[in-house]
Amino acid sequence: MDVILIAAVTHDGFIARHSSEIITWSKDLHLFKKQTFGYPVIMGSNTFNCLESELDNREVIVFHRNNKPREVIEKINSKKCFVAGGGITNKKFYSHLTHLYITPHPLIFGSGIKLFQDNIKEPNLLLENVIVVDKEEYIFQYQYKILENN
Ligand SMILES: NC(=O)c1ccc[n+]([C@@H]2O[C@H](COP(=O)([O-])OP(=O)(O)OC[C@H]3O[C@@H](n4cnc5c(N)ncnc54)[C@H](OP(=O)(O)O)[C@@H]3O)[C@@H](O)[C@H]2O)c1
Repeated sequence: MDVILIAAVTHDGFIARHSSEIITWSKDLHLFKKQTFGYPVIMGSNTFNCLESELDNREVIVFHRNNKPREVIEKINSKKCFVAGGGITNKKFYSHLTHLYITPHPLIFGSGIKLFQDNIKEPNLLLENVIVVDKEEYIFQYQYKILENN
């Protein structure tokens, strides 16, 4: 199964200013909805609490501190699933990820929630596709396959 991390990031690698920020600056919400449609979406409880509306037509799996990433993934019966933050949850699922869908935004926060909380082993990435998110603002989603991350 493909396990795809999907995130909007600033140019300095943050996904939010703080753990309860409602993300209003992301330009790729329409893409997120389209790409995750019909597939399970895993997210941490902080992220779930930041959602302004329900994600319909997809199973949302809310991840808690006592859950085990491997067990969550083994229960999913789908050809792909998405890991949709936040930084704590992204880090916990890091070794299970097969792809990264990253959309850099023209923002610098200086501090906040990193794409991955704590350090990770540097992955070996293969760029597979680039999708236009906002042509006028030169915002693109970069789709990587992870060749090696552990
Ligand atoms: N830009 C983007 O694409 C994007 C995407 C997703 C999220 N976000 C933003 O990211 C932020 C949330 O990220 P986050 O990293 O704070 O949270 P998170 O990963 O969404 O959720 C927190 C996770 O960490 C656990 N946890 C909380 N305190 C812990 C502790 N002391 N020790 C161990 N585990 C603990 C929680 O478990 P319990 O439930 O048991 O507490 C939960 O599993 C929000 O602002 C959200 O809007 C941005």
